[in-house]
Amino acid sequence: MAAKKVVVLPGDDAVPEAMAAAMEVLGAMKLDIEYVQFPPGERWKRGDTEVRARAAIDASDSTLFGATSGKTNAILHLRWGRQTYANVRPARYMKGALSPLRSPEGIDFVIVRENLEDLYLGLEGPLSELRPLKAQSRFLRAPLDTSAEGRYAIKVITERNTRRVAAFACELALKRKRAGGPGKVTCTSKYNMLRESDGFFRAIVEETVAGFPELRYEQFIVDDFARRVVQSPHELDVVVAPNLYGDILSDAAAGTVGGLGVAPSGCYGDDYAYFESVHGTAPDIQGLGIINPTATILSAAMMLDYLGFAEASTRLERAVRTIYAEGKTLTPDQGGHAKTEEFARAVVANL
Ligand code: IPM
Ligand code: MN
Repeated sequence: MAAKKVVVLPGDDAVPEAMAAAMEVLGAMKLDIEYVQFPPGERWKRGDTEVRARAAIDASDSTLFGATSGKTNAILHLRWGRQTYANVRPARYMKGALSPLRSPEGIDFVIVRENLEDLYLGLEGPLSELRPLKAQSRFLRAPLDTSAEGRYAIKVITERNTRRVAAFACELALKRKRAGGPGKVTCTSKYNMLRESDGFFRAIVEETVAGFPELRYEQFIVDDFARRVVQSPHELDVVVAPNLYGDILSDAAAGTVGGLGVAPSGCYGDDYAYFESVHGTAPDIQGLGIINPTATILSAAMMLDYLGFAEASTRLERAVRTIYAEGKTLTPDQGGHAKTEEFARAVVANL
């Protein structure tokens, strides 16, 4: 029996092509890992594949997940079912990647996105479902008119989830500090406007960081923070944000270091973690064999580290960096002409 078991869900549209490249690389590394492969979302038979995937996930140490456009339903189980509350999204510049910034060298920060709540609870509906609110709106200076045609969405920030994601961000900042990082946690939310929900998130993060005397703390309102991602990304270290802001800002962060083709991520819970690229399913390039597999391969590198294969993880990341530094085998999104498959072969050659 292999030391570790990993479920592979190749995802939808063009993403299975990136996953095939990542699997070629992982296969070449010959680690003591058993891979349990599922077909792309398009080929999932209604119901039964999903049930089998859920059981396989529960019997595994981790999952490598290709992005979904809704066909690979397992994401619900991977996030809410396995309570993977901390979505870690590094933005680290690799020399040779196609950044729109003048001086992207040295950009190296991580967004830790709360992954389970905020506006991601699916609590939406017609206004008429709400009872007329007793409280006056702070902004309308009148009760909400629930008889009007319209929809609501509920945003929830709980103490438990905020505390655990904040603590996760602090541990990560400490780990990075030991490796030479600045040891700083930045909190961002719209705490000036959403004083109750985002204000609560901000206060709990600040309190949590205060329990780590080795770390510095700073906070920015989310619109100001968005500007900073573009204008002064070098000043950031570990950022912690509620779910929706983290979703939006991690795409922006990816933009600073070369786009979604190079942005990996991992979703961590207390007893499970799964790994997925930040990008979507790129249906416009499906079948062309040109999707950039870097995001998936770097997500796999994060997974290897999580599974205890630290040396292999570093080796894989270095192999990818070498390809960017050399600039000979880059995919079209990075200004090159290489196919997905050629990129994978170059990574294997560099391992
Ligand atoms: C992401 C994606 C998902 C999200 C979608 C596909 C539900 O955009 O992982 O960033 O919003 O979390
Ligand atoms: Mn997203």
